[in-house]
Amino acid sequence: MAYVTEENLTDLVLKRWQDIPDPRLKKVMQSLIKHLHGFVRDIEPTNAEWFTAIDWITRTGKMSDNKRQEVILFSDVMGVSMLVDAINNRLPSGATPTTVEGPFHIADAPEIAHGGNMAKGAPGIPTFVTGTVRGLDGKPIANATLDLWQTDGEGLYESQKGTEEPWMRGIFRSQADGSYVLRTVAPIAYTIPMDGTVGELVAKTNVSHMRPAHIHFAVSAAGYRTVTTHLFQKGDQYIETDVVYGVKEPLITEFKKMPPGKAPNGETLKEPFYVVHYDFVLQQAAKAQAAA
Ligand code: BEZ
Ligand code: FE
Repeated sequence: MAYVTEENLTDLVLKRWQDIPDPRLKKVMQSLIKHLHGFVRDIEPTNAEWFTAIDWITRTGKMSDNKRQEVILFSDVMGVSMLVDAINNRLPSGATPTTVEGPFHIADAPEIAHGGNMAKGAPGIPTFVTGTVRGLDGKPIANATLDLWQTDGEGLYESQKGTEEPWMRGIFRSQADGSYVLRTVAPIAYTIPMDGTVGELVAKTNVSHMRPAHIHFAVSAAGYRTVTTHLFQKGDQYIETDVVYGVKEPLITEFKKMPPGKAPNGETLKEPFYVVHYDFVLQQAAKAQAAA
């Protein structure tokens, strides 16, 4: 056998790790070894630098559990979460694009009636979101589920606010004509958690740690592929520098400022409010399977 040299080491490791019965695992391991060795050959770390990297990875793992996921946050800020999302959601043009789910979704939000308010008692500018849910063929989809979550007008999600009751989330359903109307408050831009190892890394750079204001949606309907996405507020100063690369052009929506008066759900407001219009377009599940 050939003894190890700096030159032949990558080839030796690749050869040793060829004997893997599962073809997918074999492909993954061969690629991982190539890229890991390529990375190390590229940066030529000192022993002290390599130890610093190992220490950072160790602390990142130790910070991660079912409440806080620093490893996912690292994947997010490296653009890897969005890359995996893109690879797994190659949708036809015209379908509403997906974006990262993020760590703040809580399952089983309360069901709220058509036109209802998911931000009762929350600080922020009243905002009405209206539109339709349709298939790619333009046909309205009745009884689609719109599961929403977002920050309040002070930038806090439920898990950060620490409320007993649901906060800034709700499930709405589209009507027979595919339409939906809901009341909320305008979200604001917020920072990713900066008190962990990812924040430590970001703080050593000039990379923005902000996410532009957005409302999360998971829109699903029987026979259609679920779309997990956000609507972003047009004009937000962080739209072009979203720290997790979640912004796609079709998801940027106008928050139209309206004077006090009648709102889209029939309420009369004494204060100015926003109206956001967005039509969700879903791909049929059978078509999605055939394309895959
Ligand atoms: C979010 O939008 O909630 C989010 C996504 C990725 C990282 C942090 C937050
Ligand atoms: Fe978010």
